[in-house]
Amino acid sequence: MSHISGPSVLQLLLLWITLCTSAATASGQSAARYNVVMVIFDDLRPALGVYGDSLARTPHLDAFAQGSNVFSHAYSQQALCAPSRNSLLTGRRPDTLHLYDFYSYWRSFAGNFTTLPQYFQQHGYYTYSCGKVFHPGLSSNNTDDYPLSWSAPAFHPRTEQFMNSPVCPEHGGGVLRKNYLICPVELQTQPYKTLPDIESVTEALRFIDTRKHSRQPYFLALGFHKPHINFRFPRQFLGRFPLSHFYNYTEDTLKPPDMPDVAWNPYTDVRSRDDFKHRNISFPYGPISRHQAAQIRQAYYASVAYVDDLFGKLLAGLDLERTVIAVLGDHGWSLGEHAEWAKYSNFEVALRVPLIIRSPEFPLAEPRKRHSITELVDVFPTLVDLAHLPPLPACNGSGLEQPSCSQGKSLYPMLQGLDLGEDYVAISQYPRPGMLPTKHPNSDKPKLRNIKIMGYTLRTSHYRYTLWVRFHAHNFSRDWHNIYGEELYDHRLDSGEEFNLAALPEFNSIRQHLRWRLIEAVG
Ligand SMILES: *[C@@H]1O[C@H](CO)[C@@H](O)[C@H](O)[C@H]1NC(C)=O
Ligand SMILES: *[C@@H]1O[C@H](CO)[C@@H](O)[C@H](O)[C@H]1NC(C)=O
Ligand SMILES: *[C@@H]1O[C@H](CO)[C@@H](O)[C@H](O)[C@H]1NC(C)=O
Ligand SMILES: *[C@@H]1O[C@H](CO)[C@@H](O)[C@H](O)[C@H]1NC(C)=O
Ligand SMILES: *[C@@H]1O[C@H](CO)[C@@H](O)[C@H](O)[C@H]1NC(C)=O
Ligand SMILES: *[C@@H]1O[C@H](CO)[C@@H](O)[C@H](O)[C@H]1NC(C)=O
Repeated sequence: MSHISGPSVLQLLLLWITLCTSAATASGQSAARYNVVMVIFDDLRPALGVYGDSLARTPHLDAFAQGSNVFSHAYSQQALCAPSRNSLLTGRRPDTLHLYDFYSYWRSFAGNFTTLPQYFQQHGYYTYSCGKVFHPGLSSNNTDDYPLSWSAPAFHPRTEQFMNSPVCPEHGGGVLRKNYLICPVELQTQPYKTLPDIESVTEALRFIDTRKHSRQPYFLALGFHKPHINFRFPRQFLGRFPLSHFYNYTEDTLKPPDMPDVAWNPYTDVRSRDDFKHRNISFPYGPISRHQAAQIRQAYYASVAYVDDLFGKLLAGLDLERTVIAVLGDHGWSLGEHAEWAKYSNFEVALRVPLIIRSPEFPLAEPRKRHSITELVDVFPTLVDLAHLPPLPACNGSGLEQPSCSQGKSLYPMLQGLDLGEDYVAISQYPRPGMLPTKHPNSDKPKLRNIKIMGYTLRTSHYRYTLWVRFHAHNFSRDWHNIYGEELYDHRLDSGEEFNLAALPEFNSIRQHLRWRLIEAVG
């Protein structure tokens, strides 16, 4: 007798339970929900081992990246802290928030939009901010957008008040009275014998510990202050970086002759520090001496190593099986490429950031490099999907009538391994007060009322195309026909953006095509 038995009632029941459990996990309803931790580094370009930077000493971020998605082409919306962070945290572009400087609060000025932490809070999460997450001050209503974004007032380290104080040892000696750009210190000489990022990590670990036994999931944002200038970090990190490694850091040390002047940022903040202001660096184009250039780079890398070390301490306190983690920089920083320093521009070095995302849902044994073009506005919808909250709709245009929507795209399908075959682009922008670099108004960071020109830049997988056009600050409109500069760089041949191809007839049709694409995307 041959009898193939069908599934027993018990087997069916087990199958049913399994299906229900996985469905519940997928929709995030009854199963334990993931905690979400977002770590922002201030002014961090991808100077990390996992991004192929052989000078970097970042063992903790590199180890973290082993199990993560590493986005190789992630871009900030504007290379300035407050516009970039508010864009990231609202999922909307600087043009929608009408924020290009530090001095307005978009809820009062543009629209009462739902932020990333607020969305998590609305869906049952406890939300907490440690360190520099929102840019402090007017652009977050002097409260880091508390209480709308956070369940408790944001934590700020008490040593934050000394960030721009003259607390660097003069000539490396014992007397603290200088506001140097390059400022390695002994901790015991510093106010409260500590530094802001050390305090922020201690607080984050305390917070994580207090939430251990809570059934309510949390969204924690931790913002490191470094490697933003000044480069104030524990002295021992300098020893890992021989100065000689930083002389020939880039071959691209000259201002490109065919760069429009409006594209240039004169790095006024570097010049103003006590160790640079008497050097008579020619305004606006410099250069900075080779020796000082090497010293700045060395201090940047040492600052990165310092926060990497603190990131390792944070990671040791997290339960990776229960936590979605996103790590990113708010924008990049030029370390002498094009003879340029600092952020404040539309160049690749100022806009490209590290973006590393890890979820227990997608266990990986090694870094999964994702080469598609991504933007910081993508982070909000992506984290929403990774936490299995109701998906965030795409904004209709600028979405002024939609309190909760995103102008970015969710990267979740990419993490699921779905190749959507899309040819994504990144759109970023930078304002200027005029055609030429100036000290007054400061063309590195013009105030809204002084903005006369907006540079819009489009990054495709092959090109960067930038158009500088007339901008009317009083009604936030732009005139695409009134052009102050145009740039086209082919990243397949010129990853340093040294050769502006915009004037070459051979590139006419691609230039026209990219211009059309940019105008259509900006709207
Ligand atoms: C900004 O903060 C003030 C208190 O300082 C508060 O009265 C006001 O409602 C806040 N603005 C918005 C739009 O939330
Ligand atoms: C903004 O929206 C929040 C809910 O997202 C609401 O609580 C608040 O009252 C609104 N503020 C204003 C000024 O409309
Ligand atoms: C940098 O490169 C130049 C030649 O391009 C070489 O002469 C010099 O020794 C190098 N300096 C260092 C510190 O490696
Ligand atoms: C910088 O210029 C000032 C005024 O011209 C001069 O007194 C000073 O010696 C110069 N410093 C250096 C380092 O060249
Ligand atoms: C988007 O906005 C336009 C213009 O305001 C409107 O005509 C259209 O119906 C909106 N679409 C959706 C899906 O809301
Ligand atoms: C904005 O203002 C400028 C100059 O005053 C004007 O030419 C332009 O038409 C205005 N644009 C809009 C959309 O109102």
